Amino acid sequence: MTATATSATATAGTATSPGRSIVAFCCRECAYAAADASANARRPLPPSVRLVLMPCTGRVSPLHLLRALAEGADGVMVAGCLLGQCHYREGNFNAVDRVAFVQRLLESVGVEPERCRMFTMSAGEPPKFVAAVREMDRVVGGLPPLPRSSDGQSRTTHDGTRAAAASQQPPARTRRTA
Ligand code: FES
Repeated sequence: MTATATSATATAGTATSPGRSIVAFCCRECAYAAADASANARRPLPPSVRLVLMPCTGRVSPLHLLRALAEGADGVMVAGCLLGQCHYREGNFNAVDRVAFVQRLLESVGVEPERCRMFTMSAGEPPKFVAAVREMDRVVGGLPPLPRSSDGQSRTTHDGTRAAAASQQPPARTRRTA
């Protein structure tokens, strides 16, 4: 996992909304570039959002998403290139499958699957990125708080998804680009 401080992270991470935290795993080729452009245009993101720079959404593992939730995030989002436009051909298709896998895993242990979402956009669509982040913030803000243990970790995901993860395999690749 790679995290880089740029104007985008500076704009997104100046303060934290009380009781809410969202981690956004952003492909550097599209979503992160869109976030940077948004920051330069002074389009504010919800302060609950933290951006994580990824080389491609194909590098986002289910464990990244589950660990973020287990360690304090109330929601996680993956933002990648438009389908069919991944610079590594099928990275974003793999990410779609992994997000769906994590959603099923969350649901199986009683956690709202909408806490994990996938969005796609091009680098030239900063408003789309901002809209995606705001949508995520709105949805997660409408959910009840995740139960936390005394050390701040999500009780359900910390225990439940680990047990569930041990009994399930990640999905096989289901789609390929032409
Ligand atoms: Fe952007 Fe793969 S390079 S999702």
